[in-house]
Amino acid sequence: KEIDMSASLERRQFFKTAAAGVVAASAAISHAQTAPANAPLVVGLNPADAKRPPFQAQSIERSLRIADLNDLEAEAQRVMDPGAFAFISSGSDSQWTLRENRASFARVAIKPQYLVGKPAPDLRTTLLGQQLSMPIITTPMGAHGLAHQSAELGTARGTAAAGSLMTVSTMANHTIEEIAAASTGPKWFQLYMPKSRDEALALLRRAETAGYTAIVFAIDAFAPGSSDATIRMQCSMPSSLMLVNAGQSGYKTSLGWDDVKFIQQNTKLPLVLKGVLTPEMAKLALEHGVSAIQVSNHGGRQLDGVPAAIDALPAVVDVVKGKVPVIMDSGIRRGTDVFKALAMGANAVAIGRPVLYGLALGGSMGVQSVYERLQAELSRDMMIAGIASIKELSRDFVMPAA
Ligand code: FNR
Repeated sequence: KEIDMSASLERRQFFKTAAAGVVAASAAISHAQTAPANAPLVVGLNPADAKRPPFQAQSIERSLRIADLNDLEAEAQRVMDPGAFAFISSGSDSQWTLRENRASFARVAIKPQYLVGKPAPDLRTTLLGQQLSMPIITTPMGAHGLAHQSAELGTARGTAAAGSLMTVSTMANHTIEEIAAASTGPKWFQLYMPKSRDEALALLRRAETAGYTAIVFAIDAFAPGSSDATIRMQCSMPSSLMLVNAGQSGYKTSLGWDDVKFIQQNTKLPLVLKGVLTPEMAKLALEHGVSAIQVSNHGGRQLDGVPAAIDALPAVVDVVKGKVPVIMDSGIRRGTDVFKALAMGANAVAIGRPVLYGLALGGSMGVQSVYERLQAELSRDMMIAGIASIKELSRDFVMPAA
């Protein structure tokens, strides 16, 4: 059955938390009917590509029952273009870091407090002046159009509907201004540093004018990560998906603290340094006056072999000593993951692939549902562990698993 996808996805409930804690799902799912189900798609190299945009075909209706966001990946794979799925899901090289991002959470155990008579948990928090319904934000990711035709507009609407904050990548398929206008929710802009300082300045000015409230500078991605899956499939970005904010000069392939200073000298917005994995780097970041630190290994997509972000977090927190907020991303899939990251000293976590999978499966409603699922889990976990507010979460509530 053919339906108008853009309209139906906005109206339809993707999945909803039911009383029993199970997730009931009713989804409208975009599906690329034009590509054979398992055919590797060589996108961007094919002149016919423009005639068969794989990301805006028909839609089908089906139901999902998802209780665990880890299951989203397999569901998203069923509806996504194979090349797009490979690009989003994979990690670099042997994917050791990608696997560690999940495995490391299993090495942390939770120490609950019982019989403490706490009220229902309050998940609200403030991050660099932005009020959030929960300590979970959308991390910057390029090309949301790979997941769904609404692209970053859907992510912006879904994130805002959940009461949270979206970080917009320089590599977006919509303009900085279009994404700002898509929702009233708070937004940060993640800058990839153009070779041309004029182009960098122009991006900073545009982000400021459009109402973004922080600049995120990713320090770990000046050379592209390399995934075996996308090499095998010969994937490249479809020509129909433009990276509309990119300038003519290309991006710098060597970064230094002078780039950090350049941003600080040319914007009044706070600067978040993303990609910090060591206490040494955190110390330098503080010395350079950054406003926040994002502990991240880019979701295992850059240098394979660097530690899981959750393993790197405590040493960074020990150096930062609460002077600036610490955000952690890479591998967050469950409420207990958020619980552990906050207990180990993060002020908030950022989520990546689950957002794109939610977007692929249900547009903005899918994104909102991913947030609501994590929120419900975290709330329940805190309630059982005897914690009424995220400020109370400390290392007293975690220990190494045996
Ligand atoms: C990313 N990431 C990323 N980071 C960034 O600073 N700028 C970017 O443009 C991108 N692009 C991007 C694309 C895709 C498809 C993914 C999956 C990731 C990294 C991202 O911000 C974050 O560090 C990880 O996604 C977090 O890991 P999880 O939540 O995906 O496990």
